[in-house]
Amino acid sequence: MTPDSLFPAALHWTILAASLIVSLVALACVIVLLRRRAPVPTFTASTPDAAPILREGEKNGRSPDEAFMQWSPDMLRQILASELPNTELIVVSNREPYVHEHGADGIELKVPASGLVSALEPITRTCAGTWIAHGGGSADRETSDRNDHVMVPPDAPAYTLRRVWLSEEEYKGYYLGFANEGLWPLCHIAFTRPQFRAADWECYQAVNRKFADAVVEEAKTKRPIVLVQDYHFALLPRLIRERLPDAIIITFWHIPWPNSEVFSVCPWREQILDGLLGSSILGFHIQLHCNNFVESVDRFLESRVDREGAAISYGGRTTLVHSYPISIEWPEERVRSETVAQARRRIFKRYDLSPDVKLAVGVERLDYTKGILDRFHALDEFFHQHSDWIGRLVFLQIAAPSRGTLPAYQALYQECLDLVAEINERYGSDGYQPIVLVPEHHDHEELADLFRAADVCVVSSLHDGMNLVAKEFVAARDDEAGVLVLSAFAGASRELLEALIVNPFDATGMGEVFFQALTMPVEEQTMRMRRLREVVRSNNVYRWAGSMLLDAARLRQREQFRDLGGSSAPWAVSRPVEENVIRLRA
Ligand code: G6P
Repeated sequence: MTPDSLFPAALHWTILAASLIVSLVALACVIVLLRRRAPVPTFTASTPDAAPILREGEKNGRSPDEAFMQWSPDMLRQILASELPNTELIVVSNREPYVHEHGADGIELKVPASGLVSALEPITRTCAGTWIAHGGGSADRETSDRNDHVMVPPDAPAYTLRRVWLSEEEYKGYYLGFANEGLWPLCHIAFTRPQFRAADWECYQAVNRKFADAVVEEAKTKRPIVLVQDYHFALLPRLIRERLPDAIIITFWHIPWPNSEVFSVCPWREQILDGLLGSSILGFHIQLHCNNFVESVDRFLESRVDREGAAISYGGRTTLVHSYPISIEWPEERVRSETVAQARRRIFKRYDLSPDVKLAVGVERLDYTKGILDRFHALDEFFHQHSDWIGRLVFLQIAAPSRGTLPAYQALYQECLDLVAEINERYGSDGYQPIVLVPEHHDHEELADLFRAADVCVVSSLHDGMNLVAKEFVAARDDEAGVLVLSAFAGASRELLEALIVNPFDATGMGEVFFQALTMPVEEQTMRMRRLREVVRSNNVYRWAGSMLLDAARLRQREQFRDLGGSSAPWAVSRPVEENVIRLRA
């Protein structure tokens, strides 16, 4: 039989017509899909290097499976119960989650302005753990029992806060001195020279020992999970390891880790690396900081670095070095009773703003790493280039006082006051101040109102581990409006790709991005904000903690196999978190 006899002419035409229709439908689908995709984020000419941001973004919460996964307090409790049964959880940080202060109306309870506290508080509440921290409030002693314990949150007690008392000298040397004049500027590369004094180092060591004593006192078992927080406690993991060898110690470094050349100027660099390698798991926000840490160890300690497995073997033990991007509570426990329009009216009334101005906000601790002066310079450039905006934009800067006894912070405050006065003088008029600087602490609810009232939120950190303000702004915008301007040097830029990414060192470029933000069509704002909200929702703080706890569980299982005589590679722990969760749920 010839092909012709198999396919008569009529059939040929039918097949041809059908293929044409199928192709046209497929083409239409592709066009619709392409149009529906969120816009590609805009990288301005001033963006230093978008490529690493995009790569990390793809890794963080962009897998399609995750869209179906909502990390929650329940999931965290389930992980603890099934993967780490009967394990006690101890958190150690310098800053306490609740501070008691003497005020005009008696004892007042304060929640400090700290990203670390806002991330860890819901976790400790969920896990009913013990939180050990410096008791720094003027009424802390009288509100603690004779074991230095207080149950918190006071209105719904869920966990124990153990307060550690420091002398004035310890506080100055360890906290103000070594932690905040040494390690803080060293790690942030904000061009503020780190100060290293032998006396501060002595205090830092003594206070780390004091907290190790507190951990050992509080531990009810030999194998607790201890979550050590931040640069105040670089020596603590080793000190705990010496006394509780079977503990799982998860250390999280909330600030950046600099490259090894910068790190090398620290006179006690080997001791710091040795201390941190007492951890079972050492976490950073982004891969770049992990890489910098591994490079520092490779350069200064005799160790074996397994780059593929993200593990360091040192002194007979292995430490996993992983990135876990920190985040915020989602869903929030607090229910919003107000609409965005109501919040906006209230904020405009409180700050006496004319209803037709656009509002940009900045919210942070008054810290030289946050790029506050830099955004004011950008604003100056913006008004200079776009003078028709004079009178139509107000920048509201909330700056919570922080570390105010240190000279660098005092100088920054004065510089902010001077620059604001200068800019307001240049562009202000009767009844109009382009910049409103509020150097006061605001609580979570007040900040959520501000975020909801704003047209634009600016996060222009010169360098930042993560920056939770960016995520809090996104979380507050359930109206899917508002524009986030975000520094490329904040860890959050690796995830929040639909923000307008800026280089805070480029005032002219940042000024142009302000213009782009202020003139962005509502439809584009919605597309960007919708995507940003998806990312923060799926990468919430329960995912941050859950990923570390799952890795800890895998590590413990691996140790058990090893005790039984088996062997496994260090990287056996690092299988994808989602795989573990799916197994948990099955
Ligand atoms: C920020 C940093 C944290 C740090 C905290 C300390 O939130 O991201 O890493 O622990 O500041 O602030 P404090 O007021 O306690 O010195």
